[in-house]
Amino acid sequence: MADQVNVAVLGATGAVGQELIKLLEERSFPIKNLKLLASQRSAGNKVSFAGQDIVVEAVDDNSFKDVDIVLASAGGSISKNYASKAVASGAVVIDNSSAFRMDDEVPLVIPEINPEAAAKHKGIIANPNCTTILMGVAIYPLHQVQPIKRIVVSTYQSASGAGARAMAEVETQAQAILNGENPKAEILPYPLAFNLFPHNSPLGDNHYCQEEMKMVHETRKIFGVPDLRVTATCVRVPVLRAHSETINLEFDRPFAVEKAQELVASAEGVTLVEDWEKNYFPMPIDATGKDDVLVGRIRQDISHESSLELWLCGDQIRKGAALNAIQIAELLLEKNWLKVSA
Ligand code: A2P
Repeated sequence: MADQVNVAVLGATGAVGQELIKLLEERSFPIKNLKLLASQRSAGNKVSFAGQDIVVEAVDDNSFKDVDIVLASAGGSISKNYASKAVASGAVVIDNSSAFRMDDEVPLVIPEINPEAAAKHKGIIANPNCTTILMGVAIYPLHQVQPIKRIVVSTYQSASGAGARAMAEVETQAQAILNGENPKAEILPYPLAFNLFPHNSPLGDNHYCQEEMKMVHETRKIFGVPDLRVTATCVRVPVLRAHSETINLEFDRPFAVEKAQELVASAEGVTLVEDWEKNYFPMPIDATGKDDVLVGRIRQDISHESSLELWLCGDQIRKGAALNAIQIAELLLEKNWLKVSA
């Protein structure tokens, strides 16, 4: 791989930040120096990386001096505040928040789908929303063979999407319920343990929540089909990590199930998991910690001759966030695309 680079992880103590650090080590990312940035709350904490203890620093305007790549995962407002400062000091920011995803100047990249978009960055590359990434890698191989006309997706999203503190809250709630106590909800709006609720992102005038509209707009941008018809219903479920999705795909003519199975089985980043005899298909516990999105139950929609149904589970923290960001960073090094394009 390329020469060693200086990397900063912004949001290093969060659920995605921790996974970013783990993946940098696991994938032997060519790091010269690793800087771990978070809020003042965790400044001074130590995180182990490649046999070394690295001290977490509170981010400030001078944190990005000599940094080549910033992997940002500290939320939209922090990204908005620091991304331009990092770019001004010469770094490329791969941003996990939604702050820049729909900005025309910012490529929105899933390396299995639109790697070439990354070449056009002006310093910031956006990592798509987790549900969009998981759906995208699963259905793009089909779209390439026969364009998708319409997507109807429902999600079953784990607590990890709301961060490390939401995951801990669900465990505490479960314990409280088992002890016969009332569960408290502080991070998520309602108790999630032994419950579920429509996604808690803000609702728009069209009565879709932000998470649902992210799936619509981001899929269109990544696929390069501005008028692709997409409708989504996003639901939070009491799973700790790994999201699931049911997806209905409409084509302009029938799509053979066997062909779809073959395409999914051979696509990069996806594993076909189907045992029809045992009624065994992807489950969040099987997807947890895996790089690939697990896809199964690919079947003919009995209500529409040109539509297919499928089911997937994917690790929200891994491919849905940290892994995709690291793959973008690897792509920049491999193609020598670190420099801002003209
Ligand atoms: P900290 O642990 O210091 O609060 P998650 O999404 O899992 O909740 O993680 C959010 C990440 O973003 C954490 O690393 C958190 O750091 C970081 N973060 C939150 N607020 C700030 C802030 N004001 N400045 C820098 N980092 C922040």
